[in-house]
Amino acid sequence: MDLRQEIEALESEIRRLLGEVDSLEALDRLRVDFLGRKGKITLLTKRLGSLAKEERPEAGKAINRLKTWAAEALEEKMRAVKAAVRARKLQQERVDVTLPGRRVPAGREHPITLVSREITDIFTGMGFDIAEGPEVELDYYNFEALNIPKDHPARDMQDTFYVSDNVVLRTHTSPVQVRTMEKQRPPVRIITLGAVYRCDSDVTHTPMFHQVEGLLVDENITMGDLKGVLTRFVHLMFGRDIGVRFRPSFFPFTEPSAEVDIQCVICKGKGCRVCAQTGWLEILGCGMVDPAVYGFVDYDPEIYSGFAWGLGVERVAMLKYGINDLRSFFENDMRFLAQF
Ligand code: PHE
Repeated sequence: MDLRQEIEALESEIRRLLGEVDSLEALDRLRVDFLGRKGKITLLTKRLGSLAKEERPEAGKAINRLKTWAAEALEEKMRAVKAAVRARKLQQERVDVTLPGRRVPAGREHPITLVSREITDIFTGMGFDIAEGPEVELDYYNFEALNIPKDHPARDMQDTFYVSDNVVLRTHTSPVQVRTMEKQRPPVRIITLGAVYRCDSDVTHTPMFHQVEGLLVDENITMGDLKGVLTRFVHLMFGRDIGVRFRPSFFPFTEPSAEVDIQCVICKGKGCRVCAQTGWLEILGCGMVDPAVYGFVDYDPEIYSGFAWGLGVERVAMLKYGINDLRSFFENDMRFLAQF
């Protein structure tokens, strides 16, 4: 075959192959096969020497034209393949921005959390600080230093979870009173909030529930201060129109002691099933700190006096939201929890 024919043959071979390639890799192989150091076109150039002298310039030009044409054709094909690859990729990775998004279900705060915060806000608003104490407590703080001696009925095995002989799960938040007074001299003005434990379980009792404890000790504190602070709390929590009464009671660590009743939030005092027809609901225990307790923390009862109270958070939440089964707070039923 003479050179001219070979050039034509190569050209049509390249055209045919270019029509077939559809990837950058195949295209690159093609370039090596024809234009590479041992490529078919490159090899043609080496044959120029075997031609007659007068034929060489013409043949050289023809080979160069083929070379230039092939390079351009490859370049052009490369652009086309790149565009095609890109288009394919865009198609595959397409995002439909009109699709509705997946909703993330919103969480809610537990009613106990909500009420706890409301109670905390009311008392911190009056100037009380927040104190803390452990849930696993020494017998000493839970009982002894609160003037509850060894034979007191509150220590009954029925009620208290004992961890060991002198360690218990605290049965109330009152131990924080003692811990705070041990660390701090008067004036003391604290509340504390947290879980307490009693071995008891029915419609109105759960083995774990929450209390808010308050303690105020200073000079010249009277029962009038106690009544003022707690009445104000009830009014802020349940509304100004709710009646409050203080009923004599007993706690070993307060003297005198009282329980606070509020007018039934359901029947407004008329008498209903919730208040057992009395028109009143008990919400907290309180009293003037017993001088015996000051003895344990080295406060002088001749100088200082004060009051304390403890209230059940679940009880307040039940009254506030009209919930009649205490256990619903702890079952984590979303249908119940989503209502708050
Ligand atoms: N700790 C008592 C209880 O759990 C409540 C209380 C606290 C009473 C403070 C008086 C003073 O029943």
